Amino acid sequence: MKTALITGANRGIGLELAKQLQQKGHTIIATCRQSSPELEALNCQIETGVDVTNSDSILELAEKLEGQQIDLLINNAGFLQSMSLDSLDFDAMRMQYEINTLGPLRVTANLLPNLSQGSKVAIITSRMGSIEDGSGGQYGYRMSKSAVNMVGSSLAHDLKPKGIAVALLHPGYVRTDMTGGSGLINANESAKGLIQRIEELNMNNTGGFWHTDGTELPW
Ligand SMILES: NC(=O)c1ccc[n+]([C@@H]2O[C@H](COP(=O)([O-])OP(=O)(O)OC[C@H]3O[C@@H](n4cnc5c(N)ncnc54)[C@H](OP(=O)(O)O)[C@@H]3O)[C@@H](O)[C@H]2O)c1
Repeated sequence: MKTALITGANRGIGLELAKQLQQKGHTIIATCRQSSPELEALNCQIETGVDVTNSDSILELAEKLEGQQIDLLINNAGFLQSMSLDSLDFDAMRMQYEINTLGPLRVTANLLPNLSQGSKVAIITSRMGSIEDGSGGQYGYRMSKSAVNMVGSSLAHDLKPKGIAVALLHPGYVRTDMTGGSGLINANESAKGLIQRIEELNMNNTGGFWHTDGTELPW
């Protein structure tokens, strides 16, 4: 039985990933700042108080999980604050960088002792971080997701000798709280594709950037 750790698992895409991976027989470690009734209903291991911007909380998580093997680490927690060129908010940009960029690096680095050959790391990024695919606006969010793409690419290089593959995954335009319920697909459809992409991830395609539908995305 494989163990999957998912950040931001109390709602949205993270919750759906936890549900579907559990249905596939994985043992779930669901981390969140605060749990939710939907997450409690899964009866899985829930680690609350896990704020990906807070090094102490991630160190505490790593201590609690000492000796526990993680086969699949999904860095899902994320934050979007809308802004245009006319409404730049530099504090909000810093916050998005903390959560969306430094968060996955902080979590992955601290949980490295739990990963071993054959483990996989997924980072839920966004095609809004693609420079080639860019269309302006959403400064803080786009910048934070471009930067996390570099985090994932560097991790793929650095973890290759350990036999740990890394994927950067765009979940699609998904109807969640983040989008105010707008979107082209539901979280269950998104999670289904994300899990397929993770299943296809291996040491030959490590470091790739894919849409949940399997399309390879431009950087
Ligand atoms: N929805 C889309 O269309 C879309 C598109 C592209 C990429 N994405 C990415 O997909 C991922 C999931 O998004 P979603 O749509 O499911 O969003 P969501 O419904 O807003 O959920 C965001 C999750 O991230 C958690 N989170 C936020 N800040 C955190 C922090 N500092 N520490 C720990 N957890 C934190 C939230 O926890 P709290 O409940 O504690 O706030 C929540 O669990 C994100 O990385 C997002 O950028 C989404």
